[in-house]
Formats: sequence, structure tokens, C-alpha cells
Amino acid sequence: MSSNEWEQEFFIKKGKYFLEYMNLRWAYAEAMVDEIVKVLAEHDVQTGKILDLCCGNGRLSIWLAKKGFEAVGIDLSPLFIEDAVRKANEFGVESQVKFLVGDIQKVDEIVVSEKPFDAVINFWTSIGYADEKSDEEIFNKTRRITRKNGILLIGQCMHREFLPLQFNPRIYTEYEDTVLLEEREFNQISSRLKSTWKYYTKEGENMRFLDSCIFNIRVYGVNEIVSILEKTGWKVMDVFGSLMTRRPFNILTVMNIIAKAV
Ligand SMILES: C[S@@+](CC[C@H](N)C(=O)[O-])C[C@H]1O[C@@H](n2cnc3c(N)ncnc32)[C@H](O)[C@@H]1O
Repeated sequence: MSSNEWEQEFFIKKGKYFLEYMNLRWAYAEAMVDEIVKVLAEHDVQTGKILDLCCGNGRLSIWLAKKGFEAVGIDLSPLFIEDAVRKANEFGVESQVKFLVGDIQKVDEIVVSEKPFDAVINFWTSIGYADEKSDEEIFNKTRRITRKNGILLIGQCMHREFLPLQFNPRIYTEYEDTVLLEEREFNQISSRLKSTWKYYTKEGENMRFLDSCIFNIRVYGVNEIVSILEKTGWKVMDVFGSLMTRRPFNILTVMNIIAKAV
């Protein structure tokens, strides 16, 4: 299954399951955006237009709009974008945020009438869905639509240093009436994590199988992302383990990278 095929199935065809899972993260979206706003201010981006690459159903774009920024979110899944538009209306920020369906591999074409951006965010391991060459091209295109000294913030990203150390081949998560079982394989040579996500619904003491789909991503080491960024016109300013606490990055934390358009 090529990267495009699994993405289509996971995020579009069977996207209603991931949408429910993604909704759990709305609980701390405002707190996360408060930290994003602080980081941007520290790098002289106090106002302006933010591009949210792989925006999902819009939790960060909508809260950025609530905090006074203009936001443009792009995502592959029409289902997530429809939900984001609905939520923007509910939050009363429909005039400050725009949501577009599209593949970030064509980001420059999709947002051609929106550029330049003052900052770009890419959150919750939203890179590595295709291959290294495509990712390099995405950061290259993103750089070209960002103003000089604009900021790129890659947040809450899984990384290669962490994965073999804490590797768990089966992860169960329960939320509302759903049980999610992830069966994972990590290929050290290709650095790809391939998981089968199996969704079940609780029925009394039993669980009924709903559906399954494949998730398959290239997991980068921090040095690899830094090298891609530096090749594509970004200067890495900082790497943190947590945006909330500014804990330094280490092999047990997630990866948060702040880079400047040079
Ligand atoms: C893990 S979710 C993160 C969502 C969002 N950034 C957040 O933090 O809530 C990854 C998102 O990437 C989107 N996505 C996957 N491949 C994409 C592509 N090629 N172009 C645009 N969006 C893509 C998915 O539809 C999904 O919404």
C-alpha cells in the first residue's frame, strides 16, 4: 500500500474513527495554543497569518484565531475540513480562519492566494507520511510561502530516538465507547513505523470489532529533521522536549522544533 493509499484510507475513507480520536485533543488545544503564541512572540511574530499544515479538524487554527491571529489550515481529509469549518462557526471565528482541503505536497499551489505567512505550524507527528524526498520538498515549498524571519514550529512530533527505547508492539486506548488497539512494527532500517489500528466498540462486557486500517510513517531522528530544515532555507533556533514546560529535548521526550526562515 503506497503512502497515498494508506493516507486515503486512514484519514478519508475510514476517517470517522480517527476524527473521534482527534477530538480528544481539543481538551487542551487552548493551553497548547497559549504556548504557541508565547513561542511566536519570543521570535517577533505577535500578529499575522499562520499556516497550519495538516490541521486536522482545526483545533489549533481555531484557537489561534481566537487569540487574534489569522489562520489558514490545510488538510487532506474533506471530512476533517468540514468539521473544522463547522467548529469555526461554533467558535465565532469563521472570518479569521480559512480551511482548505489538499495534499501538503502541493502546499504552495493550494495557498497561492494566501501567502506570505508569518508562521507555519505542523503539530502532532504530521510529517513523514510520504518519503524523505517528499518531506524535503514540503519544507522547501513551505519556506517559499513564508516571509523572511517567519517562524516554523514543528510540535509534539514523535522521533526516532524515542521509538526503539520505549517500543510497545501493542497499545490499547479506551475513550467513550471505543477501544483502539494499535499493533505496531518498527523497521529500524527504513525507520518506518507501520501500525494496524483496530477499532472496537464496547457492548456490555464484550467488544465488537468495527474496522481496521494501516498507519505507516517515516519516523525521523532530530538530526534528520534539522538537516532537512537547514537544506530548505530554515535555521533551527531551538529544540524542546515540551512546549508547555520548555523541558529540554531528550530521548524520552517528544520533539518540538523552532526554526526561522532565512
Ligand atoms: C495526527 S493528525 C494531526 C492533526 C492536527 N495537526 C492536530 O494537531 O490536531 C495528522 C493530520 O494530517 C493530515 N494529513 C495526512 N496526510 C496529509 C497530506 N498529505 N496532506 C495534508 N494533510 C495530511 C490528516 O488528515 C490528519 O488530519
